[in-house]
Amino acid sequence: MGLGMSDPLHDDRGNRDRSITNPAGQGAPLPGHRGRARPAPGGPFLIGDAMTGGYGRGADILHGCTIAVDRGEIAVIVGPNGAGKSTAMKAVFGMLSLREGAVRLDGEDISALSPQDRVKKGMGFVPQTSNIFTSLSVEENLEMGAFIRDDDIRETMEQVFDLFPILREKRRQPAGELSGGQRQQVAVGRALMTKPKVLMLDEPTAGVSPIVMDELFDRIIEVARSGLPVLMVEQNARQALEIADKGYVLVQGRNAHTGTGRDLLADPDVRRSFLGG
Ligand SMILES: Nc1ncnc2c1ncn2[C@@H]1O[C@H](COP(=O)(O)OP(=O)(O)OP(=O)(O)O)[C@@H](O)[C@H]1O
Ligand SMILES: [Mg+2]
Repeated sequence: MGLGMSDPLHDDRGNRDRSITNPAGQGAPLPGHRGRARPAPGGPFLIGDAMTGGYGRGADILHGCTIAVDRGEIAVIVGPNGAGKSTAMKAVFGMLSLREGAVRLDGEDISALSPQDRVKKGMGFVPQTSNIFTSLSVEENLEMGAFIRDDDIRETMEQVFDLFPILREKRRQPAGELSGGQRQQVAVGRALMTKPKVLMLDEPTAGVSPIVMDELFDRIIEVARSGLPVLMVEQNARQALEIADKGYVLVQGRNAHTGTGRDLLADPDVRRSFLGG
């Protein structure tokens, strides 16, 4: 069991996802889902709730910012440069201390946990920068990703190779020699090696061509379809909102707009300010 890559996509993705329309906020169990599909009475599966805080003793960057993702969903965070998207992701991952607000995973308050302990709880995080070891081979990068595991990681590695076949081909090559899109695959693969319960991606398509972007989005959809919720920041706002069950527009550390991907794409304010009309 695992990433569910053997499970083809049967139906459409996007805003018609049942987990959005279901008032209980609970998607139906997906084939290949690793966890039991339980109702989440405490809210979304992963939530950074009303987060306020900044770096060290600096000024607050986040001001009551909320981002969340539920089971079976892709949630997308968009907004201008410097809006605090990466900061919000880092806050959810435990890389800055919050003055207010909380982070909850599957109903449990994990606000006090270190990033490493959050990984153990099931968070997989791909940061925006420095997300691979360039001097290590592809395979070594994936092995490093599995650092918290002491069981056999070969099956998971095979699943990652099934998801990203080019990585199997280049497994012995230094990751630094790969193309931008391939490096991003290594970074996502590395995060998948912990067998996370939720995947957090900060600009997984940064710096890649439109074709490679489409391809990466397809793989991300595939991952989400396998039952792994995906919370991601995206610079390609329009394309990302098209595949988003839920979208957040952040501006200056605050939630400016929240809705289904479809709602946000149709919102004249959002279109004018963030999608180029
Ligand atoms: N390590 C840091 N220490 C201090 N301030 C930081 C740090 N990282 C980011 N900032 C500041 O926090 C604010 C939000 O930055 P952040 O990187 O979260 O924005 P972003 O929305 O991810 O932008 P981008 O679209 O460029 O990735 C900016 O004013 C930035 O200068
Ligand atoms: Mg960023």
